[in-house]
Amino acid sequence: MARPRLLILPLLVAAAAVLWSPLDRALAKTAKKSDDIVNGPLLTSKINAKRTLIVGPEDEFKTVQSAIDAVPVGNTEWVIVHLRSGIYREKVVIPETKPFIFVRGNGKGRTSISHESASPHNAESSAFTVHASNVIVFGVSFRVLTRYTRRLNERSQNSARAGLPNIPEVRTVAAMVSGDKVAFYHCAFYSPHHTLFDSTGRHYYESCYIQGNIDFIFGGGQSIFQCPEIFVKPDRRTEIKGSITAQNRKEEDSSGFVFIKGKVYGVGQVYLGRANEAYSRVIFADTYLSRTINPAGWTNLGYNGATDHMLLGEYNCTGPGAAAANSMTRVPWARQFTKEEADKFLTVDFINGKEWLPAYYY
Ligand SMILES: *[C@@H]1O[C@H](CO)[C@@H](O)[C@H](O)[C@H]1NC(C)=O
Repeated sequence: MARPRLLILPLLVAAAAVLWSPLDRALAKTAKKSDDIVNGPLLTSKINAKRTLIVGPEDEFKTVQSAIDAVPVGNTEWVIVHLRSGIYREKVVIPETKPFIFVRGNGKGRTSISHESASPHNAESSAFTVHASNVIVFGVSFRVLTRYTRRLNERSQNSARAGLPNIPEVRTVAAMVSGDKVAFYHCAFYSPHHTLFDSTGRHYYESCYIQGNIDFIFGGGQSIFQCPEIFVKPDRRTEIKGSITAQNRKEEDSSGFVFIKGKVYGVGQVYLGRANEAYSRVIFADTYLSRTINPAGWTNLGYNGATDHMLLGEYNCTGPGAAAANSMTRVPWARQFTKEEADKFLTVDFINGKEWLPAYYY
């Protein structure tokens, strides 16, 4: 019979092409195509982990922190901490001494770390804290519950803050990231304000959802937010117009926040960012900006210094909130970057990502 032979030959040729294409194989080790979907299995295959610790109500580890605690100090090989679906009501800290941890959830709608916290200190309030370097997180939601903040309000009824549900002085940080080479894929961060403390180090956030109102992505991190979804949560009871970002670059270092191919929308109005240090650096590129962006674009509320060293601006953004639609009302120090100026920020080279990311968008 001739038919099977006709089928087998093309199959062999195709298989050989897949197996022997050195370019494909080299790329497969470090990257993915932009139309691949990053998921738990893909990241697992890129990270050669020898050990998996499972967290769940019926498993060896009942809490996320107990699994982190079981990773040895000075760890040098990737360990997967797998979180089964469910809500983990606890504060989680990955200490500086425990690198090479891959926290793998079942998806941001299924696995959640939720902590009731509020404190004058960012680190103290944070539901999920990464001090270690080389940490990967996939498919987890981080949420701060703020009953404490509500109680505080009730007690201070006569003060000027009375009625404010969200007090900027009281921090409600969903996640704090101060390690180097930390990546989040398909995660979500929820808090009324000060949601993501992107403190220091090189970080990558791909397809993450971030919600908040006041300074809700803040810190001195060197970070790329690839395809983010940023939702501005309304807070009609405060007079403060919030800001999405507050990047605090104090001198000419390598830090800065870069948002690429995302969308920003919500209810109420906020600024793209608050210039809170002389060298603040934030770029929104190829991003849809809805009417939720104040026409001024940026604010320097609380900062009285010079604006000449700041790099706060947009490149190729669209939508009714973009500079193109608001050129007469943008603050004078807001930038509209040219392609040449923007280019160095628009690939993972900005965070040396090709050297350490298990997968990235290109
Ligand atoms: C501008 O952004 C859009 C997405 O909004 C993208 O498709 C397009 O390639 C970008 N153009 C340039 C010149 O970067």
